[in-house]
Amino acid sequence: MNGRFYITTPIYYPSDKLHIGHTYCTVATDAMARYKRLKGDEVMFLTGTDEHGQKIEDKAREAGVTPKQFVDNIVEGPRGVKDLWKLMDISYDRFIRTTDDYHVTAIQRIFKKMHDNGDIYKGTYKGKYCKPCESFWTESQLVDGKCPDCGREVTDAEEEAYFFRLSKYADKVQDLLENTDFLEPRSRVNEMVNNFIKPGLEDLCVSRTSFTWGIPVDFDPGHVVYVWVDALSNYITALGYMNDAHDDYEKFWPADVHFVGKEIVRFHSIIWPAMLMSLGEPLPKKVYGHGWLLLDGGKMSKSKGNVVDPYILAEKFGVDALRFFLLRTFPFGSDGNFSNEALIQTINVDLANDLGNLVSRTTAMVGKYFGGALPAGSGTWDAPTEPDKELIAMAGGLRDKYEAEMEAFQFQNALEEVFKVIQRANKYIDENAPWALAKDMDANGARLAHVMYNLLEATRICGVLLTPFMPGSMAKLFDQIGAPEAARTWDSAAKWGALPETVKPQKGENLFPRIDLDAAVKELEAAAEEARKAALPPIELEPQSPDYVDFDTFCKSDFRAVKVKACEHVKKSEKLLRFTLDDGTGTDRQILSGIAKWYEPEALVGKTLVAIVNLPPRKMMGLDSNGMLISAVHKEKGEEKLNLLIVSDEIPAGAKMC
Ligand code: MSP
Repeated sequence: MNGRFYITTPIYYPSDKLHIGHTYCTVATDAMARYKRLKGDEVMFLTGTDEHGQKIEDKAREAGVTPKQFVDNIVEGPRGVKDLWKLMDISYDRFIRTTDDYHVTAIQRIFKKMHDNGDIYKGTYKGKYCKPCESFWTESQLVDGKCPDCGREVTDAEEEAYFFRLSKYADKVQDLLENTDFLEPRSRVNEMVNNFIKPGLEDLCVSRTSFTWGIPVDFDPGHVVYVWVDALSNYITALGYMNDAHDDYEKFWPADVHFVGKEIVRFHSIIWPAMLMSLGEPLPKKVYGHGWLLLDGGKMSKSKGNVVDPYILAEKFGVDALRFFLLRTFPFGSDGNFSNEALIQTINVDLANDLGNLVSRTTAMVGKYFGGALPAGSGTWDAPTEPDKELIAMAGGLRDKYEAEMEAFQFQNALEEVFKVIQRANKYIDENAPWALAKDMDANGARLAHVMYNLLEATRICGVLLTPFMPGSMAKLFDQIGAPEAARTWDSAAKWGALPETVKPQKGENLFPRIDLDAAVKELEAAAEEARKAALPPIELEPQSPDYVDFDTFCKSDFRAVKVKACEHVKKSEKLLRFTLDDGTGTDRQILSGIAKWYEPEALVGKTLVAIVNLPPRKMMGLDSNGMLISAVHKEKGEEKLNLLIVSDEIPAGAKMC
């Protein structure tokens, strides 16, 4: 009997463009949703964006647009969230934006319901707040005085606020975590219980008054709902809970699984169940906390400038190869180190070498030896050899093994099982040496046809099970091996022999071309450098000094107009220019200045500049420097820029600047 399956990704903050780390969870969710659909389940796959909060308000202000315009651009605009999911072939059924009207109304009702039942009350918030994470912390939760999630500075906060009686649900939540399979992997349970519940679960501050970009508490103007209460509720409002926009709450809730990154497990496994308990609604069946994709051992983040752009990778290597890599390489529950080398090697070894070669060799041989179609009878053989038996047993038993791994969200293991069969099939080619059999078709034709059939059949079964991971490429693979629709189904994956005996494969385009590792890595590094530069602020200025200088001290600095009589490079120095200057005294003044990177000496001769002339003399490269030329400095895209102060030629040499 087919069932229903409701799966969600976290809803993403549209504060910056998404990177490959964000893509990871969505690709995993998509593979899971496609797998369940393949099995015949009715699936609801929800994703979306979490659009409120101070961070977004601040970013919008910086960008000079309204918060709504800001999020609209990142969600709906070019190369935005929706575009990215289209590119990555993400088959979501519903996309929720927390700025959608129906969600806003539902949140107000949810907040009111918890208020009316006494679980939300008014008090004063005093504590620490991490702005980037939009999280409140108690003193005891801080690590070295900093945010325990991101390690950044926290600020003191005190304001009138509403609180949710999280403490009331501490025992029930602890029981849920410790005595059920609600939270996986199991290792995350200890972390939650020991770090958050046992030290004492405090009531949670669930409204703010210090900014406005949030859902207003409708019965107390000035308060906006805490962004996590707003965000977590998306999983039910998107189904129509407390709103009329949708009507599948009864059908799909409780969710089968929420996939979430490990740093937001706390919200999903403690706050979310407590909120649902307060609302009197059923709890989701499972929360799965996956690991992070790391870059050089650290979490990717825009502010650290170490993000990997999924567009660049998908455009270069193909969407399916990228999807496959993410789930084949890293165990879903643990962290994994992303690298371009690992990506390319996975493509070359698994996809180009093992799978791609199996398909191209087999289809080419059927074309060459049988003119494109296998003869009747190719599906059976009276005296199966050991390799025949082994291949058929492995491929025939593959679906069950794969299913067990997929049900446990062990994508890497599920794919490992499939690739064992693909590798076995490649070995089977060598064991049977079709090219030798083909030398005497009268004697060996029937055997050769059977070998070909077995190869196509093993490939087909693997193709069905790889479809959730690489939907586009597997459709092409089926066309190439000549698998009819009925041989692409979940049922057919457990049936050896579903491929018609007189199958007509078509050798087609190379599904996964081999990649030149060195060249591709170089190109990617260059592209990443470009992207890093493009992401830098266009102009960066030195912050103004917060300290006063007293007037008398300032007046002691003697700035004068100076005219350049001669200018040349200082020998053996890449930086220094040597200036001979008329400073109005009648005696030449020599100043050395480290500006060779920005100026050709000849171009400065005759110019009127500004120098401070009462600095103590200094020796550089054995030469005296008597003063300093004044320049304006700033950074453009991270690069230092310098402009000498060149003033009007009408100013006589020696004129005092004051
Ligand atoms: N808006 C919240 C989620 C609310 S759900 C009710 C949020 N958004 S987020 O955009 O910051 O992150 C979304 C998801 O992306 C999180 O699950 C997070 O763990 C995941 N990832 C972000 N960077 C990641 C990696 N480098 N690796 C893997 N996943 C990571 O949190």
